Amino acid sequence: MASLIAILDLKGKPLIQRSYRDDVPPSYIERFLPIVLDLEEEGQQVTPCFTREGVNYMHIRHSNLYLLALSKRNSNAAEIILFLHRLVQVLVEYFKELEEESIRDNFVIIYELLDEMMDFGYPQTTESKILQEYITQESYKLEAQVRPPIAVTNAVSWRSEGIRYRKNEVFLDVIESVNLLVNSSGNVVRSEILGSVKMKCYLSGMPELRLGLNDKVMFETTGRTARGKAIEMEDVKFHQCVRLARFENDRTISFIPPDGEFELMSYRLSTPVKPLIWVEAAVEHHKGSRVEYMVKCKAQFKRRSSANNVEIYVPVPDDADTPKFRASTGTVQYAPDKSAFIWKIKQLGGSREFLMRAHFGLPSVRGEQDSMDKRAPITVKFEIPYFTVSGIQVRYLKIVEKSGYQALPWVRYITQNGDDYSLRTALEKTSAPIVPMM
Ligand SMILES: *[C@@H]1O[C@H](CO)[C@@H](O)[C@H](O)[C@H]1NC(C)=O
Repeated sequence: MASLIAILDLKGKPLIQRSYRDDVPPSYIERFLPIVLDLEEEGQQVTPCFTREGVNYMHIRHSNLYLLALSKRNSNAAEIILFLHRLVQVLVEYFKELEEESIRDNFVIIYELLDEMMDFGYPQTTESKILQEYITQESYKLEAQVRPPIAVTNAVSWRSEGIRYRKNEVFLDVIESVNLLVNSSGNVVRSEILGSVKMKCYLSGMPELRLGLNDKVMFETTGRTARGKAIEMEDVKFHQCVRLARFENDRTISFIPPDGEFELMSYRLSTPVKPLIWVEAAVEHHKGSRVEYMVKCKAQFKRRSSANNVEIYVPVPDDADTPKFRASTGTVQYAPDKSAFIWKIKQLGGSREFLMRAHFGLPSVRGEQDSMDKRAPITVKFEIPYFTVSGIQVRYLKIVEKSGYQALPWVRYITQNGDDYSLRTALEKTSAPIVPMM
């Protein structure tokens, strides 16, 4: 029995680790190599198993890696060493070559394998043939997996027994809302992403679900380093069904879902975001008589995405009248109750740019550009499907129920405006009144 399995590089740094029992803190992993180096310095032979300060270290070497198991009990060392060899065998069968690089490239799948191959420190399935039935190399391709029955013994307060569906389905929506403020110089002065993972579960019985996110996701307080740009989540909140102890231990989101609709988790990211939809306006006041707008909107996301139901609200003076509009795409309407006009674009393709012009009459003669600074900003509403601005992605959603039914998971992504997506990018200027010739 092992409390922890880790794969280390030659410097003794853990590349990946999985705790199965919490009696050996992960900090012991880093003590392993110094002990080995000490032994070598003293001219002693380094044995596969040794004990220091009551912790048993069991390891094997493979190419430029150490595979290490730690335990605190009187474990069957031969069994663990055998397990480590089987682990190498399985990983080689999955990735052909097992080295530092292949671990970094297949972080999620190795995690999944570690999960399947050992339970609570006891070796389980180590046959790669069997494992490949559950865990496929393209595990980012979503799939519903059926596992051997597991007993769910503890009572679950948020789900009743005996739920039955003819068709077992799960819908998962990852929704990200972007709030930002662009100042009049065009700089983003405030931005945040509010994320929500919503589910609709139509599943029979007492299903066990496990959600795997991409390895770029880092939850606050994890010391793990991911490759590339990490997604650092803050304020992560889970539905009560998520096993928090499990999450704290190994970042696995596992749960027995309530029936029907619920929010599984929410999060916030305060990383700066570039405005996905950029809008700027040139406003020309012809003193006391009329005002003209030239509005430019630009989709600042990849060409393969597009934004739906874009609505751009451009504020105008309260008493503006006799509107005239001309737009290169979409439709424009005046909303006097909102003191704005709304430019609606049903579908805005990535990297596309459009212009529109508006003209209003101004009946009352006003003072020197009164309250120009207090003018409301331009606001934008939009939805971009199949896209998350944070880069979060669902790698797998496993559904296991003891009756062994097949269930279909559906995943959708959407990025949309939050309550406050504002741009103070209307540049106003007043043209001199035309002075009649004497
Ligand atoms: C806009 O924000 C940038 C960066 O914070 C700042 O340097 C600039 O002065 C701001 N412009 C205005 C008009 O406030």
